[in-house]
Amino acid sequence: MTDTSIVADWYNKNTDLEHTRLISCGLEFAVSLQIILQCIDQMRRAGAEPREVLDLGGGTGRYAVELAKLGFSVTLVDISRSELELAAAYAAESKVQLHKIILEDARLIRGNSEIFRESHYDIVLCQGPLYHLLKETERVEVLRSCAAVTKNDGYVIAAFVTKFAHLRNMACRVPARLVQEAAFYETYVHDGWYTRRPDNVGYHVDAKELRGLFGKVRDPDLLVERVVACEGFLGGGLSATIIRSGKHVFEKWVQLVMDSAEHEEVLGASDHLLVVAKRGRLRV
Ligand SMILES: C[S@@+](CC[C@H](N)C(=O)[O-])C[C@H]1O[C@@H](n2cnc3c(N)ncnc32)[C@H](O)[C@@H]1O
Repeated sequence: MTDTSIVADWYNKNTDLEHTRLISCGLEFAVSLQIILQCIDQMRRAGAEPREVLDLGGGTGRYAVELAKLGFSVTLVDISRSELELAAAYAAESKVQLHKIILEDARLIRGNSEIFRESHYDIVLCQGPLYHLLKETERVEVLRSCAAVTKNDGYVIAAFVTKFAHLRNMACRVPARLVQEAAFYETYVHDGWYTRRPDNVGYHVDAKELRGLFGKVRDPDLLVERVVACEGFLGGGLSATIIRSGKHVFEKWVQLVMDSAEHEEVLGASDHLLVVAKRGRLRV
């Protein structure tokens, strides 16, 4: 089992950094939000009135507050107490109310009746916990819980960090580490276990494994619709300048990135991937 207390400690100590992360990583935020809004739009076009959102691993509330502004009832859950405290302050400052803010480990939500309500949420976001769970059984179990609490015709939207993200970052900053820590990286490229630091633990993916992971959830009603590259072809910090280029230029780039964000060859160029899975009763 992953020692998630290390993960909680890390986020408790890096709360402010996390809160500003989605400003510096504005492309990831803009693309991910568009994907979430497209799911909501699809539900509406099918006649539903989506209202309930679970943001599991929602941190300081960047997505939660944005969705609350749009009138959604958002339950925000995270393992980091100080991130949730900041989320509460951020919601108040943004003049919105989050339905509930709950401290919990994503692996344990089944035992928490405040969170775990079968077929209750229209949208379940899981953009964080899966970055840190080493064992496949843990990742599958979290996704199974996400599926169980999602309404029929609702969506589970789960995020992952790619191995290429870490390798690109290392190539730019500390290339010699590949040689200095050769034994670690020989296994990392296969298992994706980022365990070289004592103060955090990570799990990084190859895009090609994601559909198989969702298959192991063994929820016949949970069907992967899309795998999306959140930074598109501009992973590895290549979006830094467009974020500072003004709203109009930025929005044009977001659209360009969105146009190819699901192309298979683009997935490896991105740092984060979103899997969009729909919970729909199998029709025979
Ligand atoms: C990189 S942040 C992402 C925050 C936000 N969802 C976003 O996309 O910007 C990862 C978040 O996942 C949370 N997290 C990590 N492991 C978790 C777990 N086992 N249960 C609940 N939250 C967890 C962290 O505390 C942190 O807030």
